[in-house]
Amino acid sequence: MDTILIANPKGGSGKTTLSVNIAGYLANSGQRVALLDLDRQKSASLWVATRPADLPEIVTLESKRADDPLNDCLVVDSPAGLRGKNLAYALKLAHKVIVPVSPSLFDLNASRDFLQLLAEEKIIRKGKCQIGVVGMRMNARTRAATALENFLAELGLPILAYLRETQVYVNAAFEGKSLFDLPPHQAARELEQWEFLLDWINKD
Ligand SMILES: Nc1ncnc2c1ncn2[C@@H]1O[C@H](COP(=O)(O)OP(=O)(O)OP(=O)(O)O)[C@@H](O)[C@H]1O
Ligand SMILES: [Mg+2]
Repeated sequence: MDTILIANPKGGSGKTTLSVNIAGYLANSGQRVALLDLDRQKSASLWVATRPADLPEIVTLESKRADDPLNDCLVVDSPAGLRGKNLAYALKLAHKVIVPVSPSLFDLNASRDFLQLLAEEKIIRKGKCQIGVVGMRMNARTRAATALENFLAELGLPILAYLRETQVYVNAAFEGKSLFDLPPHQAARELEQWEFLLDWINKD
């Protein structure tokens, strides 16, 4: 089972938004998807519970029964403040880690420390787990994007996407939906921004 961890200890950086949309993409591409919600706030689990039954199914790992079929992939949403043993546990599960970063100076600084820490983890250094970064609520060719890119270049980490700020994510989430559950014309601009990120998710 492929496992994607979404992590950034900085609160509100976009972890849950990214997690549910990645889960929605994988489910819509015909995979059996489970979501593991490590956050006590349980926002991702609530989203799954709100999800209309006629959409491609996503289960929470907690709700699975022993005789349920195995999943093809697991998306792990993690809480703010993730560090130490909990971070090590989450990393052990993951084949890929995606770090959403928001554009403020404070978010960039906090995320920089986390990315540095990640890059020094043994599991990452050994190449057992790949890391990518997503600029959340961020546009390319802005000051924040340039600052982020300069830092990522030093660490040799890729930027996978810039996802702009839009109510499309917020409104879809209210209904238990991802971008990939919407009529394509409603999310055309957003879907374009996901192309490279989806290629990265799909490659081995
Ligand atoms: N691209 C976007 N456009 C508009 N709003 C966004 C976008 N990404 C995230 N948001 C909003 O920003 C807020 C924080 O996002 P989210 O809950 O995904 O962050 P988080 O990292 O999971 O937060 P926490 O650390 O509290 O778990 C939410 O209200 C979400 O709807
Ligand atoms: Mg969250």
